[in-house]
Amino acid sequence: MWPMTASGEWRCAATDVPPGRTAKFRLECAGRTLEGFIVNHDGRYHAYVNRCAHVGTPLDLWPNEFFTEDGRALICATHGAIYEPATGLCTEGPCVGDALDPLPLRRDGDTLIVACPPA
Ligand code: FES
Repeated sequence: MWPMTASGEWRCAATDVPPGRTAKFRLECAGRTLEGFIVNHDGRYHAYVNRCAHVGTPLDLWPNEFFTEDGRALICATHGAIYEPATGLCTEGPCVGDALDPLPLRRDGDTLIVACPPA
């Protein structure tokens, strides 16, 4: 899932991201490309920039491998930082207390819409 939109929004069907799954996307924001992902954790959706708070690499080594094996947290493949899916807060690893950058996410019927972060 990599479509970019000129409007600075990315949309997908909520049914495309069932509980325990993620979807990656790219947004064009203020002239630069931003990679992000939606996560469905316990039926609630959250969107973050795909950039670890430690040294800024994408979290997933393989596309859409964001969850720990038990499915309870997000993990960075580079050095193992653990993040809460609902808040983006790093709770274990080299960046405890830091957090993923959230992206504005809203739902319009069955469509999830992610927007660029506020300037
Ligand atoms: S870059 Fe993610 S834990 Fe180091």
